[in-house]
Amino acid sequence: MSYQNILTDLTDQVLLITINRPDQLNALNRQTIEELNKALALADVNRDVRAIMVTGAGDKAFVAGADIKEFAAFSVEEGQMLSRAGHKLLFDFIENMSKPVIAAVNGFALGGGLELAMSCHIRIASETARMGLPEVSLGVIPGYGGTQRLAQLVGKGKALEMIATADFVDARDALQWGLVNRVVAADALLAECRKMAARMTRNSPAAIAAAYRAVRAGYESSSSGFEAEIREFGTCFGTVDFREGTSAFLEKRKPTFEGR
Ligand code: COA
Repeated sequence: MSYQNILTDLTDQVLLITINRPDQLNALNRQTIEELNKALALADVNRDVRAIMVTGAGDKAFVAGADIKEFAAFSVEEGQMLSRAGHKLLFDFIENMSKPVIAAVNGFALGGGLELAMSCHIRIASETARMGLPEVSLGVIPGYGGTQRLAQLVGKGKALEMIATADFVDARDALQWGLVNRVVAADALLAECRKMAARMTRNSPAAIAAAYRAVRAGYESSSSGFEAEIREFGTCFGTVDFREGTSAFLEKRKPTFEGR
């Protein structure tokens, strides 16, 4: 299978997926999401794959978010569809996979990028990684599971702070807050992820899948929160603030929000 926006490499039962749009800081456009879905779906049924690693190409970004250029002119309905399709094809898809998925967070993980890392089962960050959900600075909200998964990982208090300030968190704070499992030197990141993945490949795939199903079952009551997120994300696309926020990003200036 050949892809335009991702690279795949299967070595020693570990599939490495690299999101490969470094000139756009690996922003997630529709095509990239579809390609990731294809690669992950194939990996889930391939008995030669026992663990998966996801990273970003280049040394600057894991993923700098959903592709703002692609969605800036969307309507309320299109916004809602974007969010729903993303949940189904990528974010819920990864969380529900039967094989462990490790995010190797090698730089900026912002918006959809942090949401991607959070939907992976494990996050290992390089010392240079910076993470945040800056959507409200664009007049929109996290729409790929971030309102739910951030609170699950760091607790409601820190999640509400990170979302409202749009601040970026460095790797050390992320580790302290439980947002990432480990922090390692940038040049050791992939090797460390591989070492962890190798330990997983020695264990029973059926038992890992069963244990992951059991862990997920404990979080099922949050599904109405995900529905609310999809609805609210779409609503943002009808606001003056969203037009201003995305225009300001594209015009490389600071936004002035009116609150409507
Ligand atoms: N969507 C689309 N394009 C993006 C992007 C995104 N989320 N993030 C970065 N890019 C593009 C930039 O537009 C730029 O493209 P251009 O050269 O065609 O103008 C390129 O990637 C490099 O980014 P740039 O902003 O020049 O790099 P920087 O080092 O000055 O800043 C960031 C890095 C990550 C701080 C900045 O790119 C940023 O704030 N990105 C958006 C983050 C965000 O809000 N994500 C949530 C989206 S919902």
